[in-house]
Amino acid sequence: MKLAFAGKGGVGKTSLTAWVADWLARNGRNVWLIDADTALSLGQASGLQLEALPEPLVRRGDLIRERIHASGFLNLNPDVGDLPETLAVDVPMVGAAVDGVTPGRKRLIVMGAVTNAGGGCACDANALLKALLAHIVMDRDEWVLVDLEAGVEHLGRGTATHVDGLVVVSEPSMRSLQTGAEVGRMATDLGLSNQVLVVNRFMGGELPRIDGLPEWTITVPSMPGLIERQMMDASVLGLPEADTLDAMVEKLLGRLGL
Ligand SMILES: Nc1ncnc2c1ncn2[C@@H]1O[C@H](COP(=O)(O)OP(=O)(O)O)[C@@H](O)[C@H]1O
Ligand SMILES: [Mg+2]
Repeated sequence: MKLAFAGKGGVGKTSLTAWVADWLARNGRNVWLIDADTALSLGQASGLQLEALPEPLVRRGDLIRERIHASGFLNLNPDVGDLPETLAVDVPMVGAAVDGVTPGRKRLIVMGAVTNAGGGCACDANALLKALLAHIVMDRDEWVLVDLEAGVEHLGRGTATHVDGLVVVSEPSMRSLQTGAEVGRMATDLGLSNQVLVVNRFMGGELPRIDGLPEWTITVPSMPGLIERQMMDASVLGLPEADTLDAMVEKLLGRLGL
């Protein structure tokens, strides 16, 4: 199953991706975590130390040249089948495995921001990144969670139709919900209509109806345990609110029919 997480910056996409991944691993699923955000924070949110983070793909000038320019001309359909294993690092599971279940494996691939690609043309890095994302989403029969930068542009039409569900994350604010609605509409246009809205840091009250927002809504409360923790630690796992989060993830996957 393939899930993408999108929405305005700072709303909780990366946290939510990390929560879903840990739940899946504890329930015996192998998961690929794809950090396609520019902030490169999915690894840290999942509990990895800075020095344990993998080199972002966009900084692998060697790989970019080798795959995109191997034949002397631009190859937009490079061979990338071996890259997930080459680029990934293992991410430890944080919660306890469900009774009687063999824990799954969490692996992280960091894409990096194409605009910051050091050396060479950004379009080369972009071509490799797109090809790798397409490969993981289309050819791999495992759970894949993609933490997107904001919208779904990274996916492109071909890849988007192979994503099983889109999680649109928003804060309970008009601006953030408008961005969410825009993302929802764009994804629907790309053929990705199985969507759920997660309103993070929800404090109660009625949400505005905006055309394009996913029909189903799940809420996550503001969590004092996380607010206190994040001063000292970048991980969003192993919180006092873990049970609330597990119930939320189950509901989320259920809503998406996954
Ligand atoms: N429900 C919540 N309660 C308290 N803090 C939260 C909550 N969700 C996210 N955060 C915090 O908000 C910040 C932004 O979250 P993040 O997942 O990085 O957002 P995004 O990936 O959308 O930019 C992080 O510091 C995170 O720890
Ligand atoms: Mg993020």
